[in-house]
Amino acid sequence: MRTILTIETTCDETAAAVLDRDRNVLASQVASQQEVHERYQGVVPELAARAHLERIVPIVAGTIADSGIDPARDLAAVAVAIEPGLPGSLLVGLSAAKALCVAWNKPLVAINHVQAHIYACQFGRKETIFPCVGFVVSGGHTNLYHCHSANRWQYLGGTIDDAVGEAFDKVAVMLGLPYPGGPHISRLAKSGNAKAYNLPRPMVSDHSTLNLSFSGLKTAVRYHLVGTGKQDFQSLVLSDQQRADMAASFQQAAVDCVVAKAQLAMQRTGLRRMCVGGGVAANESLRMSLQNLADRKKFELLISPLELCTDNAVMGAIAWEKVDSGDFSPLDIDIQPGLLRGE
Ligand code: KG4
Ligand code: ZN
Repeated sequence: MRTILTIETTCDETAAAVLDRDRNVLASQVASQQEVHERYQGVVPELAARAHLERIVPIVAGTIADSGIDPARDLAAVAVAIEPGLPGSLLVGLSAAKALCVAWNKPLVAINHVQAHIYACQFGRKETIFPCVGFVVSGGHTNLYHCHSANRWQYLGGTIDDAVGEAFDKVAVMLGLPYPGGPHISRLAKSGNAKAYNLPRPMVSDHSTLNLSFSGLKTAVRYHLVGTGKQDFQSLVLSDQQRADMAASFQQAAVDCVVAKAQLAMQRTGLRRMCVGGGVAANESLRMSLQNLADRKKFELLISPLELCTDNAVMGAIAWEKVDSGDFSPLDIDIQPGLLRGE
């Protein structure tokens, strides 16, 4: 009973991993659905669920084969992310996990995808990352938590509208960049002037809240590019320099918003450690700006290893913490798609 199988299907990646107790990765596979969704420039939930259905068996079977384990003999549990995420996508992963638990006679561990993103910071580190402020910055979430322990989380604040990654992806569409746009904006921004466009930093000056907002920033980009009332991005003609300048200006504004609330969260909680995970944590400019903040304010900053920022099953290693505390789930457990605000 030295290993666990972890399954991740919350959005548009189908992933599985086999991990031992020391978080060594015996095998890990991720099937992206980029080619399914790129023509729509965003994730289409129904298509995501159908693609998971096609991929889940080969991904799990391939991961088990790569790991060399005998599941019935070697697995301590099967873990799966049941919240938050797209309902159809979550259902595929949970149904697969339940079936495997029955087939191999193993307990089920239900994990929270957002918490798993933060737990990615535990990799490469022997001492526990808890307690810490956890900041998840992804395509679906931009949330701050006071993480007392692996099993006790307190919501501090988060976006009241778009997630930061969602804003990156939507601005990328306006600039004619492929989906998902975050990495493309980041690349383009390198040759741009971040001061070229004067964009807002919504809610940054409001120190009474740890909530964030990105939809106004996204709309401000739109107004700069095509004006109010018009949405014709196809006929928009921009020079390469203008596109790079907008990418840089937008990225700087988004990073400023995240960094400002990171600073406020550290100040409010009095904690000395921050852990950052999620797809946008791969952004170089954000990583550097958070590090500058940590150096200035003298707190410890852990950012998810680059390869564990975007969705994967390895970060499901948080399941070991539940195994250790006997926190298993009954086989009639359901998915929990929504992230309750204020929870
Ligand atoms: O964590 P993730 O794979 O999925 C969710 O749980 O949402 O995050 C995906 C998001 C996308 O919005 C993508 O554009 C963004 O992460 N992203 C980035 C970068 N790499 C991925 N955003 C900015 N800069 C990057 N380098
Ligand atoms: Zn994610």
